[in-house]
Amino acid sequence: MNRKIVFATGNAGKMKEIREILADTEFHVVSMKEEGIDLSIEEDGVTFEENAVIKAKAVAEKCGEIVLADDSGLEIDYLNKEPGIYSARYMGEDTSYRIKNANLIERLSGVSDEERTARFICAIAAVFPDGEVITTYGQVEGRIDYEEKGENGFGYDPIFYLPQLGKTTAQLSDDEKNSVSHRGEALRKMKEELKKRF
Ligand code: IMP
Repeated sequence: MNRKIVFATGNAGKMKEIREILADTEFHVVSMKEEGIDLSIEEDGVTFEENAVIKAKAVAEKCGEIVLADDSGLEIDYLNKEPGIYSARYMGEDTSYRIKNANLIERLSGVSDEERTARFICAIAAVFPDGEVITTYGQVEGRIDYEEKGENGFGYDPIFYLPQLGKTTAQLSDDEKNSVSHRGEALRKMKEELKKRF
């Protein structure tokens, strides 16, 4: 049987990633828009998990399908885990990442390698037609680099350096990034949860 999943996102990159990860299953994923749902959702949770659940529940109220939603962001230890759940809104939603990244590098000026630790975090929530709600979680540890490097990815990727690979996540191919990323990990865990249920 071919089961539909609605992913509560408008982001084409996230749709591509989840479709690749679920490609060898019976699930087929459509975006909120493809399902004809147009919603602006206030993400007023205080954790990544809470925000993912808020988004998934809001969309689940509009359709009878399995709904997935994610929430993700960057935590920088030296900045008391900023920008955290405010990663998209940091310095304003419409501010370019060139400016946001330059600002974060500036705020870390004079800070040593050891103190530049950071992580990308992703929570994914699933709401099932019977009302059950589950979440999965992924994270990847790295450091904030001293300058932007790489052209791939998006957002904070050009400043997120992976010491074990000697590259920023913007210097990885899509496949390489999926295999190490917070979102890849959370999605693969969610795939296992879905397979247990259907
Ligand atoms: P979301 O789409 O509400 O989950 O917002 C996540 C925000 O966190 C994005 O807008 C980026 O600023 C940041 N972010 C999350 N994941 C990544 C990533 O893989 N690379 C770069 N930035 C990311």
